[in-house]
Parts: sequence; structure tokens; C-alpha cells
Amino acid sequence: MKQAKCIVNKHFKIADIDERIYGSFIEHMGRAVYTGIYEPEHQTADEQGFRKDVIEAVNELNVPIVRYPGGNFVSGYDWKDGIGPKEQRPTRLDYAWLSIENNQFGINEFADWSRKANTQGMIAVNLGSGTPQEAGYFAEYCNIDKGTYWSDKRREHGYEQPHNFKVWCLGNEMDGPWQTCALTAQEYANKARETAKILKWVDPNIELVACGSSSKEMDTFPEWDRTVLEACYEHVDYISLHRYYEYEQDKASFLAAYHDLDDFIHTIKSTADYVKAKNRSDKVMMLSLDEWNVWYIKHMDTKRWQWAPAIAEDVYSLMDALVVGGLLTTIVNNADRVKMACLAQLVNALAPIHTAPNGGVLKHATYYPFQQVSRYGRGSVYRNMVVCGEVETDKYGNVPELATVTTYDESNNEMAFFVLNTNLEQDITLDLQIEEFGELQLIEQQVLTGEDLFAVNSFESPQNVKPVSIDVTSKTDTQFQFILPKTSWTMLRFKQL
Ligand code: AHR
Repeated sequence: MKQAKCIVNKHFKIADIDERIYGSFIEHMGRAVYTGIYEPEHQTADEQGFRKDVIEAVNELNVPIVRYPGGNFVSGYDWKDGIGPKEQRPTRLDYAWLSIENNQFGINEFADWSRKANTQGMIAVNLGSGTPQEAGYFAEYCNIDKGTYWSDKRREHGYEQPHNFKVWCLGNEMDGPWQTCALTAQEYANKARETAKILKWVDPNIELVACGSSSKEMDTFPEWDRTVLEACYEHVDYISLHRYYEYEQDKASFLAAYHDLDDFIHTIKSTADYVKAKNRSDKVMMLSLDEWNVWYIKHMDTKRWQWAPAIAEDVYSLMDALVVGGLLTTIVNNADRVKMACLAQLVNALAPIHTAPNGGVLKHATYYPFQQVSRYGRGSVYRNMVVCGEVETDKYGNVPELATVTTYDESNNEMAFFVLNTNLEQDITLDLQIEEFGELQLIEQQVLTGEDLFAVNSFESPQNVKPVSIDVTSKTDTQFQFILPKTSWTMLRFKQL
């Protein structure tokens, strides 16, 4: 059998993990909001129309921050349409998804839903058709206590306490020709900087995210990021990254997505550090990977001018779940610079949680690796020194066949180790050597694998693709050996004695 070795040492800590790297995203897109998180007629709906079965699935996923209201949607959205008495809210055309938006769910409903789902909001403002002034009014409505036009309006609408949203995104993917009122890099840079000034005047305690390139494939990447950062460096706290993957022809390339994401993050880090030097700044720019996932965008079917159409409802397979696991290892290993990340998205639209209108909740295969890492990948992340073979990929050349990450949480003395074996043919024996943490007891081992990489979950067979637990002996040690099945995702948990 193939052999590999991984050494983890307590002296090689990468960073403390900001829990917001386990964020997600709810956009007014397809059925994410309507018949997703909000369905007043549903049998589990609470008094506000929020589906309690969905809240339960979100709670189990441990998502500390949720981006809202878009996405492409935000670039044509007037937040004022979604406040005040519901019967007076206008029905509009949504240019992003060519859908009908009836505005029954707006910012106040989102604030209430977030509290119930045990999460906080990351709010995007409209820098497409919207203006810096309207963004300022939005922040005033949400975050100012009282005594101004917009803060008093919020009180009139039944919300005495400000929502105090802490994180605000300065638009969305403004480099994309598909965006409502897309901008050039310099136009966006100026608009984002002026909006940033207003938002921080309104509330100096907030954090701001500037739009980076919407993907590595954009012709303007990474020049866009440089231009934006040069103009906005001292006004913003994060630059955003968006990245989606889909299986095309070559399984090895798809499984190596973790490697490509690492490359993307490194390019943006380098670009930000170049601007730091050029601007003679002391500040280190942090990254917000506020959209990432597997997305079968080429299969997307747009239905014109329907309310809550079923669009982008990808049914994720075992292979997709393995890729999501690999991407998570990259995100956590970059926790020194990636302080926020959002699995895009959360419910129905390219999401781990699927709902049937008037029916049940289904957890797609991708739900599980996310849940494991979000739940146990807490505390700090440590460098893994890995010796392993390589796989040949069409897209990225030769890539290490294992993607790994180790976290240790001082608050409960628990360590978690996650590993993706991308080898399509062979199991691998892994020697795991854990140094300077003292004796550890293996307390849990779960493996996600299967013969059929295209297997999925369905309402008829909801547990078809799910990690299985393996019996662990109560052995304590500093060295362990495990078999990693071909194309598998493994979680190991240890308790420090
Ligand atoms: O998450 C789906 C879409 O992907 C978002 O609306 C947009 O920002 C990105 O292109």
C-alpha cells in the first residue's frame, strides 16, 4: 500500500482561527429566501414565517456569519423596498436572476432570522444602481440608535434596538459584465472609497470589505485588485475573493481544487502586500473569501420573471463533498490572512440544505464535511509537514495527493485532523506524528467515501452519502497510523490528556 507521513508540531502554529471562516450566504436568488428560510404557510413556520426545520439544520451546521442580501441581486436592490408594513412593499423585477421580488423578506426579517439561526449578518450595499448616499442611509437605518430620520424609521417599524451589523460589503463583483451597472476598476475604486468614508462616519465600529476580482479567470485579475486596494487601502479592512469549481472532464483536476484555491489566495495576498509597500502602509490587509463552493453554473436554467423559481439547485455528489472538504483544508490553513469565508450558499441555491416547498429538509452530501470542520476545526491551526505522492491533473500539473489540516482548541484540549485523499486508485497508509502536544487519545474517526463518486442524497435516500464512524481503540500516544481509502475524506479527533 502507498505510504505517507504527516508531522504536526506545537511550535509551528499558523494562526488563531477566526470563526467567521465558517460563514455562509443567503441571497435573494431562486428559493434561498422564499420557500427556503421563509415560508409562512409551512407547517413548521414560526410566527414570523421562518421555517423552524431549516433553522434547525442551519444551527447544526454552525454558521457564525451569513452574507445578505446578495450577490448579484444586491446591485439592483433598493433596501427601502423591504422595510415597513408588508402589504405596502412593492413587487419589483430583479435584474440579477430575472425573477420577481415581492419584498416580503427584508433587512429586519433577516436580522430576526439571524438571531434565531444563531448567526450574525454580513451586509452588502448596492454599489451598482445604488449610490454612496443610499448606502449611508442603509447603515443609519440599521446601526444608529435614534434621533435621525432613518433610525427613527426603524423604530417606527418596530425595531427599537439597532441591528448593529458589524461587517459591510462594498458592493458585489463589480468587475463582472453580468453585474447591474458594472464598473471599471478605477470607477469602482472611487465609488467604494467614498462609500467607505460615509459608512465609517455613520458607524466607526464597522468593518468593510472591498470587492476583489470576481474570479481568477477575469481578464482584469489581479490588476483590478491592485487598483481597488491602492485607492481604498486605508478605508477598508478586507478584500473579497470569490471562487467556484465544477466537475468537467478530469476527476483529478476537480479533486485538486484545494490546490488551485491556495494559489488564488496567495496571489491576492501578494497583491495586497505589494499595495501595502507601495502605499507605505503599516496595515496588513485581510481577506474575505465571501463566496466559495462547487457550482454547476453551466447547467443553470434561468426562468424568466417568476417568483421563487427553482434555479441553481445543484444536487451535490460524494465527489463534490470531497472537493468541499479539500477547499476547507485550504481555507483553514490560510487562517492567518483569511478571516472570513462564506460557503455560497446556504439554502436551495447552490446550497448544502435543500427544502421542498410545503415539505421536508434534505442535507446534501456537502453538508457533512462543512459541518465537521465548522464544528471541530476551532481554536488555532498548525502547520502540517506532509510527505506524500502526487497525482497528475490536466489543469494544474502534478499536485500533492493529500490535502490536510490540523487544528487544536485550547478551550477543550481537543485536536482535529482532516485529510482528503485525492488518489482515485489507491488507499494510503498515513503515519501521523504529533509533537509537543503530549499524549493524545483518539476519540473519533469518521470517513466519507464510497465506490460511486456520483452518489447523492435524496428525499427517498437521505443518508446515502454521509460520513461513517469507525470504532476507535482507547489507545493514547503521540504517533498514530491510519488507512485513508482512495478518494476519501477523513476526520480524526483527539483529546489531550
Ligand atoms: O452565489 C451565486 C452568485 O455567484 C452570486 O450572486 C454572485 O456574486 C456570484 O457570481
